[in-house]
Amino acid sequence: MHKIGVIPGDGIGPEVVREARKVLDVICERKGIQLDFEEFPLGAAHYLKTGEVLSDETISRLEEKESILLGAMGDPRVSPGVLEKGVLLRLRFHFDQYVNLRPVKLFQGVPAALAGDRKIDMHFIRENTEDFYVGLGSRVRTGSSREQLKLIRETYEVKFDIGIDLKDTDELAYQIGIITRQGARRVIDYAFDLAKKKGADLVTSVDKANVLTEVYGLWREEVEKASSSYGIEKEFQYVDAVALHMVRNPERFKVLVTPNLFGDILTDLGAALQGGLGFAPSGNINPSGVSMFEPVHGSAPDIAGKGLANPVGAILSSALMLDTLGYKDAAHEMESAVMSVLSDGKHRTADVGGKMSTTAMGDAVLNALKSQ
Ligand code: NAD
Ligand code: IPM
Ligand code: MN
Repeated sequence: MHKIGVIPGDGIGPEVVREARKVLDVICERKGIQLDFEEFPLGAAHYLKTGEVLSDETISRLEEKESILLGAMGDPRVSPGVLEKGVLLRLRFHFDQYVNLRPVKLFQGVPAALAGDRKIDMHFIRENTEDFYVGLGSRVRTGSSREQLKLIRETYEVKFDIGIDLKDTDELAYQIGIITRQGARRVIDYAFDLAKKKGADLVTSVDKANVLTEVYGLWREEVEKASSSYGIEKEFQYVDAVALHMVRNPERFKVLVTPNLFGDILTDLGAALQGGLGFAPSGNINPSGVSMFEPVHGSAPDIAGKGLANPVGAILSSALMLDTLGYKDAAHEMESAVMSVLSDGKHRTADVGGKMSTTAMGDAVLNALKSQ
């Protein structure tokens, strides 16, 4: 029996999670997999009613789970960051889910951003607990903390001319990115390990080591080491060039390992290559702890409550959860059901110009699964 915490969350989160649960029920019944679900009503509604974002008590109940299935977090009624950082990032950090696994695969029949018959099949391994996501930063205003401002001014002026006249600055904001050696090593090792399992002969490391020399200089050292210890080639690419190549020649990429922020940005671009945000799955993985699976997309307030959301990303995220729990066959059958539904070009939700509702799409995957 696997204990699963379910956080449907905000906007289209509950709509897509419902479809994923439907499909999971059928595959688990067939395969004799026992999942014991418990729902947690986190998100905007809960916050606006109780003032609570995520309690320590909820965290300890989630600690009892093997995995978490999440819809989306974020709501226009709540200031940006309150729920995203307060729930999503807090959970990723608390459970030390240092790998954000984001497969980018274009299924046959799906109209994607690029024309032509494309063979897009790459895996992003996004570092998930460090970089500019650590939340270290501050605003410094005149009067509020002259000492702090003086310190920053001196630190930077001693190092080099940053091109800003801090003497006349009465307010500034700064945010710091951190890469630790251990943090880089474990996620980079995971990427090389995955490359080995997939038979890929090259890992692409994404950074901006020409500007952010400290953090990504250290990152590169770990890529060098992993490449020689795994006996797999590596290439270093700057993030701006990766954006270019992903559009011009996405077939060249197989396994990419990226720091947190660049991975966030590039996987939305990746989602466009696979048909849109509605198709993209992800897993926040701690290989020896509680992992959390969620579609790449957010709460999509513009379409929430209308039955317009594409549930495929959420369904594939739950397949990724089964895969991680050790049920490779079950995960594969779920993916095959999704593929067969999408391949005839008729089953399409509104995001790809179709008329199917969220529920109808979920039902179609369910039927494909049943007839397999
Ligand atoms: P978004 O991903 O919610 O939406 C971007 C666009 O894609 C919208 O036009 C939306 O309608 C469309 N879209 C997204 N998912 C779709 C689906 N399944 N089917 C069809 N169309 C879909 O990003 P946003 O608008 O930048 O953010 C909205 C809120 O979600 C914000 O509060 C943001 O912070 C939050 N967010 C949360 C997550 C998460 O929970 N993992 C991820 C990204 C954004
Ligand atoms: C994602 C989201 C989150 C991120 C936000 C909502 C905190 O964009 O899962 O891609 O930046 O990781
Ligand atoms: Mn994102």
